[in-house]
Amino acid sequence: MSEADGVRGAEPVPSDMSSQASERSRVTLSSLAKMARAGQPFACLTCYDATTARHLARAGLHVLLVGDTAAEMVLGFGRTIDMDLDVLIALTAGVKRGAPDLVVMGDMPFMSYQAGEDEAIKNAGRFLTEGHADIVKLEADASFGPLVAKMTRAGIPVCGHIGARPQRVAMTGSYGSAGRTRGEADAIVADAVALVEAGCVQLLIEAVPEAVTEAVLEAISIPLIGIGAGPACHGQVLVWQDLVGLTDRPPTFAAPAADLARAYQEAGRAWVVRVANRAVGPSPYTAKPEPGSGIAGAVGGGRSAGGQERPVASRSEPRV
Ligand code: KIV
Repeated sequence: MSEADGVRGAEPVPSDMSSQASERSRVTLSSLAKMARAGQPFACLTCYDATTARHLARAGLHVLLVGDTAAEMVLGFGRTIDMDLDVLIALTAGVKRGAPDLVVMGDMPFMSYQAGEDEAIKNAGRFLTEGHADIVKLEADASFGPLVAKMTRAGIPVCGHIGARPQRVAMTGSYGSAGRTRGEADAIVADAVALVEAGCVQLLIEAVPEAVTEAVLEAISIPLIGIGAGPACHGQVLVWQDLVGLTDRPPTFAAPAADLARAYQEAGRAWVVRVANRAVGPSPYTAKPEPGSGIAGAVGGGRSAGGQERPVASRSEPRV
């Protein structure tokens, strides 16, 4: 299908996007490491679709995490452990298509890497080949070191997710914090060191006191992305829906930067009213003249609701 067909999916690269892309070079794992070394924070958000990815690229994001939080944010489950591997790989590919110049991190879902090393490496590889991810993330402690070493040897960049690990919710009973006792804090620092030694190229730390973050930063020399772990981390991540006010109960560390819940509801209500009032505008299509059909008219040249001429091959033409 060509661009001239004017359907979604054949959408041309908008001019503002191409100019932004030329202004800013591609984000890579090495450019992130360089930023971390230079003390320049980088921004990461979760993302689960190509359209949002495109806008977040225009906004200047550096990393998009296709998190297993898609189980909650996209599929409506109450737990991240319900995320399906095939679905998450497909979402990852969509995000990369929307933001080819950003680092896209694929999140390995529950039971895609815990049951056996061979299976784990194959699944991680699928994130790179089918999902076009730049790096995979897995929730890990020091005991995952040998697996990380094998993935690294296979050519798969790994981000180790330490601190609070939501995939262990059945063991811990909640999505709470971590590292709040001396013993837990020491264990998290030891996990960080072991995972770096095993080959992780980044770490992500979730829901720990700032002192734990600082101890981890002291102990490692690779980029550390934080969520609810204080401002010292090299990068910061939030769940997109929390940031834009779409979740009903966002975590306390995720101050919303927009009220999209309201905007969604207003737009939805406005459409309900338009439909109720039959205020959807005339059909832009006239019948194709066919000899003997008795229907006359020119092809295309439809009018928008505002009465202006539109080009024949508009993006908003329906698929027929
Ligand atoms: O799955 C996810 O979105 C995450 C973030 C909460 C860090 O792991």
